[in-house]
Formats: sequence, structure tokens, C-alpha cells
Amino acid sequence: SDTNGLPSQLAGKRVLVTSGPTHEPIDPVRYIANRSSGKQGHAIAKAARASGADVTLVTGPVALADPFGVKTVHVETAREMLQAVEAALPADIFIAAAAVADWRAADIATEKIKKGANGAPSLALVENPDILATVARRSTGRPALVVGFAAETEKLFDHAQEKLARKSCDIIIANDVGAAAGVLGGDRNEVTLMTKAGKESWPDLNKDEVASRLMTKLAGMLNGARR
Ligand code: CTP
Ligand code: CA
Repeated sequence: SDTNGLPSQLAGKRVLVTSGPTHEPIDPVRYIANRSSGKQGHAIAKAARASGADVTLVTGPVALADPFGVKTVHVETAREMLQAVEAALPADIFIAAAAVADWRAADIATEKIKKGANGAPSLALVENPDILATVARRSTGRPALVVGFAAETEKLFDHAQEKLARKSCDIIIANDVGAAAGVLGGDRNEVTLMTKAGKESWPDLNKDEVASRLMTKLAGMLNGARR
């Protein structure tokens, strides 16, 4: 336990977390982004720190303060996020909570694109690197536990199961972000943890509670793996 007598279930462990959206510029005043408040990712970084871990948080633009005691790296784009994540490795646990933009503009206009007689411009897109899959598939220095999220609006478990395999994760945290769920931007989250061994549904919880339960789960898995 730590100096406050709290359990330090992740003492001595390095935890790396991504959070928030990424912003992919189109021109100097416009960007492509996902909806993400960063609340769940930041809560995870705080909970990891409270569990005694050495924590690095790589975050896109959010309206949240840097968590106390957490090394926080600010990025804008997916490619910057990948670079910052790779620079922060090695880690024992990697948790990808960021809502990374899947595509970026093929070309970034150096000047503001103006409305004109030609109508709406068309935007050529290229795919961004998959940060989670890149970390999970490292041949050397792969974190012992790699955790991803699957925010879905339909076929939640099918899509989450597919991501677990495609991204070589140890855990996928599935959450329903359909219109009725109200998860995005809110303070609560109802998740199901999926592993190769099976799945475990948690009740509707505060995002801080999801984060602290996750730390207990991960500490147990790390210790289990060592035995
Ligand atoms: N992720 C990532 N890098 C990306 C895209 C996603 O690290 N370029 C991570 C997210 O942080 C999340 C997980 O992958 O932990 C799943 O993200 P999601 O957007 O649901 O998966 P995609 O593979 O992008 O599939 P989809 O077509 O459903 O968007
Ligand atoms: Ca995506």
C-alpha cells in the first residue's frame, strides 16, 4: 500500500493511456474529428495513478485539466498521437481510449478554402495509422496487456469481438454509443469487457468507477500472468 494506506495494486508498473479525439486539419480553420470528451480516458489515467502506477497520458484536444501526477502529452493528429505513444513506450499496460479519426485529408490547404462558384469542394481522404493495432502487434516491447475500446452503434458484441482479434488486444471494452445510450460526453458508462476467454458485463457506472474497476481487473491479470 502507499503512504496513504491505499492499495497500490499497480505499484512499479508503467501504464500508457490515450484519450480524447484527434483533430485532422483540412485547412487552417477546419478539421475532421470524432466526438470524444476524453472523460473516460482521463479517468483511467487518474485511476492508474491512484493505483500506484507510473502513468503517461497522450491526449488529443479536450476541455479537461491534466490529471495530477500523470505525465501528459498533448497532440492534435493521429500521426502525432502514434509518435507520442511510441516515444512513451515501454509500458506494462497500454489502454487506447482515444477516439482517433480514421481518416485525414490527403492534402492540407495552406490557406482557408473559400466558397466559390464551383460549389462544395470534394475532400480526398487517406486512412490514419491504427495506434492500438500498431502497439499490440509489436514484435519487441509489446506491453503485457493491451486494452482497446469498441464504441458501437449496432451489433455491439460482434463488432467488439472482431476488434479484439483484428487488433490483437487482450481486452476490448465494448460500449453502446447509440442515440439512447447517451455515453458520449456524459459521466456514466455501461461497458462489457471482452477477452479471448469470454465476456463480463458491468452495470451502468460512473466513468471513474469504470476506471477503478478496470485497474483491479488489469492488476489481477498481470499478477495472474506472472504465476
Ligand atoms: N484506435 C486507434 N487508432 C486508430 C483507430 C482506432 O488506436 N486509428 C483504437 C481506439 O482508441 C479504440 C479501438 O482502436 O481503442 C477501436 O476504435 P474503433 O474506432 O472502434 O475501431 P476502428 O478499427 O477504427 O473501426 P471502425 O470502423 O468501427 O471505426
Ligand atoms: Ca474508428
